[in-house]
Amino acid sequence: MKQKIVILTGAGISAESGISTFRDSGGLWENHRIEDVASPGGWKRDRNLVLNFYNQRRRQLLECKPNRAHFALAELESKYDVTVITQNIDNLHELGGSTNIIHLHGELLKARSTIDETLIYECKKDIELGDKCEKDSQLRPHIVWFGEAVPKMDEAIVATREADIFIVIGTSMVVYPAAGLINYCKYEVPKWLVNPNEIALPRIPNLKFINEKATTGVDYLVKRLLEEQ
Ligand code: APR
Repeated sequence: MKQKIVILTGAGISAESGISTFRDSGGLWENHRIEDVASPGGWKRDRNLVLNFYNQRRRQLLECKPNRAHFALAELESKYDVTVITQNIDNLHELGGSTNIIHLHGELLKARSTIDETLIYECKKDIELGDKCEKDSQLRPHIVWFGEAVPKMDEAIVATREADIFIVIGTSMVVYPAAGLINYCKYEVPKWLVNPNEIALPRIPNLKFINEKATTGVDYLVKRLLEEQ
């Protein structure tokens, strides 16, 4: 049976594809207030502002391509059972070839109904005020905002508990519950962290740090893991 690799990714893996991170200098949260554009309160106050924010993000995403790190993770599937748990709302893991992806924080290329969260639609265009679902309610981005439940968390926890190897790439590990996932790994599981910057973490057993950008760090790690099999 193949060993199971579970990978948690954040904005840093898509940085070299040209998508801004949130908390680095010049990051998205420097120019936008989270409570205005990524919270249920913000949506209540000014739907146009929220829609415009995500419309801009979506237009930008459609110009972006996966980078070496996304492609390398897909290569792991030749020898491992791989689950990618991503906090990213982009589709670059899909375009890079990964086939088993859990989008913890939603997907930018989907829209959903505001009265029935099971009504989800593919969406590559701007969402405008007045765009409605089949039950006649306004469409919103299919994004998990701050203060909202994270419906895919249970699935992510189950995968993490089963991991033989756990990898964390390009996340500041400050947003919960995603940042707490690593604590569900078995003690003896080797854990790898790829990040060009130091990040503050509580003591985690069997953790190794690759102090590199995603393209170089993930490429190195994937080659090593493929050689080991
Ligand atoms: N390669 C790898 N990591 C990088 C790179 C790179 N080229 N460039 C930056 N990073 C790292 C930064 O050092 C930082 O630790 O990526 C991390 C990005 O952190 P954040 O901007 O906080 O993004 P993320 O951790 O994904 O944020 C979590 O917060 O705002 C919410 O919902 C949003 O999913 C997001 C969540």
